Amino acid sequence: MTLNRVAFISDLHLDHNIGLLPQLEKVLKKRKPEVFIIAGDLFSGFTRTSAVLKRLKQIVPRVLFLPGNHDLWIAETTGNLSSHELYQKTLNKITRISGSEYLGLKPVYLKNKTAVVGVTGWYDNYPLPPVSSPDQHLCKWPGFETPYQVRNWQNELLHQQLEEAQKIASKIIVVTHMIPFMNLMKEYIPEQLFPYMGSQILGDTILKYPKVVYAISGHLHGRFLFSVPPGALPWEISPFGYPGELGKNPRETLEQSLRLIEV
Ligand SMILES: [Fe+2]
Ligand SMILES: [Fe+2]
Repeated sequence: MTLNRVAFISDLHLDHNIGLLPQLEKVLKKRKPEVFIIAGDLFSGFTRTSAVLKRLKQIVPRVLFLPGNHDLWIAETTGNLSSHELYQKTLNKITRISGSEYLGLKPVYLKNKTAVVGVTGWYDNYPLPPVSSPDQHLCKWPGFETPYQVRNWQNELLHQQLEEAQKIASKIIVVTHMIPFMNLMKEYIPEQLFPYMGSQILGDTILKYPKVVYAISGHLHGRFLFSVPPGALPWEISPFGYPGELGKNPRETLEQSLRLIEV
């Protein structure tokens, strides 16, 4: 059976990277993936998300969108919406309207008995002072008092999806926006940002499922590829980032960050 050609990237931050979308379209036309996974932080807020997904869907047969923390920011235009409602309902709906598929609630099935499971994930705590995160006032989580309660809810969603996927699929790709394998990141993340990057709890959940063949994350604006012990699970972070952050030439940064795997 032929493998799935899966492209992925995270942290496109299109509101900061003006002119990036046409370049992304060109690269996708050239590489011809069957599936394109966006691992969060497409925009800050969601008002332009659907229009962009619609354009990408004209190029790639299947576009899979997972929200990042920025996609869950509550902008003035969203009225009384909470980040929780955005995650559970609104983003799911606008992703489907655009013809794309939403990662975050249910597994998505590809050919060759392959499932894609995704959650934004969350983190153990806000960054330590003097650093602060806009999530503190731009995300609203009614009923959750601390970031780790949001993380626990996300971890449970991850667990449920993996349970479902393992019954049907023979291979699973896991996508989280936040960092799941924090134990491997100690030397790469500054101490004051460490609690804000993700949670090892998500990683511990992923490692319980031996059918997981590839893990993809975002949020950290740096490119990493690890073999996660004990089974050497490939885990990759491949963001675009903010302007000039990961290279001075946007086209080159995009070529490097848009990864293509066959699963
Ligand atoms: Fe980001
Ligand atoms: Fe992020």
